[in-house]
Amino acid sequence: MSGLFITLEGPEGAGKSTNREYLAARLREHGIDVLMTREPGGTPLAERIRELLLAPSDETMAADTELLLMFAARAQHLAQVIRPALARGTVVLCDRFTDATYAYQGGGRGLCVERIATLETFVQGTLRPDLTLVFDLPIEIGLARAAARGRLDRFEQEGHAFFEAVRQAYLQRAAQHPQRYSLLDAGQPLEAVQRAIDGLVPGIVERCRG
Ligand SMILES: Nc1ncnc2c1ncn2[C@@H]1O[C@H](COP(=O)(O)OP(=O)(O)O)[C@@H](O)[C@H]1O
Ligand SMILES: [Mg+2]
Repeated sequence: MSGLFITLEGPEGAGKSTNREYLAARLREHGIDVLMTREPGGTPLAERIRELLLAPSDETMAADTELLLMFAARAQHLAQVIRPALARGTVVLCDRFTDATYAYQGGGRGLCVERIATLETFVQGTLRPDLTLVFDLPIEIGLARAAARGRLDRFEQEGHAFFEAVRQAYLQRAAQHPQRYSLLDAGQPLEAVQRAIDGLVPGIVERCRG
């Protein structure tokens, strides 16, 4: 078996974490070795960077600082967790990855896409996800689900325009590279989202065995 790098993307409350568990369980039923992880974070050091990124603060974080911290955490995560797992043939299910940087720091914060692409190559070389599930839903629904979870983090405190830009950036990327992305209607009931994920499982299993 060869490793496969699968990322789950979408706004707050879209169902990434819930469906990461679901997909992992379906793949494990096929005897596939699965590692679940997330960004920013995924190692003790990267989780400390995550805390810096998510904590609300009186000091405004410059957009470039945010971008560089995201990629600093990612470099650590790749070195310690993702690359070793892929090398031993594990399927890595990662809750957010560089598409989130394009969506949040690019779309949301308005940073130049070329600079993000430069850092992407700097940190990842040629490594890109093999498959990306984009959980798309109207932002009000996602924000309501996230708010029900409790205290809002630094990103969740952003306004409507920010999240609309994030959503549009995800949709644009999915449309540009349809072979890599599976766009899921995450505004449906959970059962319907999971039926759509069931439909992706045979293809993933086949790629792992190929
Ligand atoms: N399709 C869905 N319909 C209704 N509620 C959902 C759906 N998907 C997830 N949820 C609920 O919404 C909340 C946020 O889901 P979660 O998986 O944590 O989202 P994310 O990780 O994308 O922020 C959770 O309480 C979850 O049970
Ligand atoms: Mg989550």
